[in-house]
Amino acid sequence: MQFTQPSPQQSPASGSGGGCGTGSSAFGMMARCSQAMPTQASVRFRSILDSTQPPALYLRMSANTIADNRRMSRFDDRAEVWLFGYGSLIYKADFPYLERRPAHIRDWARRFWQGSHDHRGTLDAPGRVVTLIPERGTICVGMAYLITPEVFEYLDHREKNGYLRCATEVFFADGSRVDGLVYIATAENAAFLGPAPEHEIARHIAHSHGPSGPNRDYLTDLAAALRELDADDAHVFAIERHLQELIDADREDADGGFYGSSTPKA
Ligand code: SIN
Repeated sequence: MQFTQPSPQQSPASGSGGGCGTGSSAFGMMARCSQAMPTQASVRFRSILDSTQPPALYLRMSANTIADNRRMSRFDDRAEVWLFGYGSLIYKADFPYLERRPAHIRDWARRFWQGSHDHRGTLDAPGRVVTLIPERGTICVGMAYLITPEVFEYLDHREKNGYLRCATEVFFADGSRVDGLVYIATAENAAFLGPAPEHEIARHIAHSHGPSGPNRDYLTDLAAALRELDADDAHVFAIERHLQELIDADREDADGGFYGSSTPKA
């Protein structure tokens, strides 16, 4: 089988990351993650479901998850693995893959709750990127890539800012399903920011910038990719709308408002 090479405009970068197991649902997966990582497990499960607690109270993982992900050995015996992408991995496939197919996973909701220190913000001023939060009955639409295990060397670096490789069941449009992996940044990772009103998330994104570029590009590229997949994601589209309102308001201010200098006065 031939590798599909990344397109030239896609530059390598790090993403957002974690360490889990194989499951048909988010809840089953978290239980399996717990067995794999006893020191973090119970805290992870509790903290994700109890978002009323300030994230700072939770046991924190290292901000760099490369070493945690290296210990994820579940698919070591496989020559090929399906990776499910739901954020930048949908629209920025800057790694070699054998096959790429629209797909979904179940019982997970995409949320702009993860901080980004290394891509769309900095340590002092983190941006906001997506992670997955367990939510029964919710379908998360994204893109699945069939990759060879060597590619994790690059992906673990790209997703090192809090994301762990977790096992999941990946569903395709033709009704077939496979065991695969997904990078999830759980609530106890050091960069986790947690929930906020969508208009505040939009404001945060509007002002954030990191080595991979403006945070707003992450949001608009993701929203465009989701539209192409015909995916309905109320959270992402609401934040995109709020961002557009902020941009329009800024433009109006720059033009001097409705009665600004560019508008002839009566
Ligand atoms: C991200 O890198 O934006 C989150 C993980 C993913 O895209 O699957």
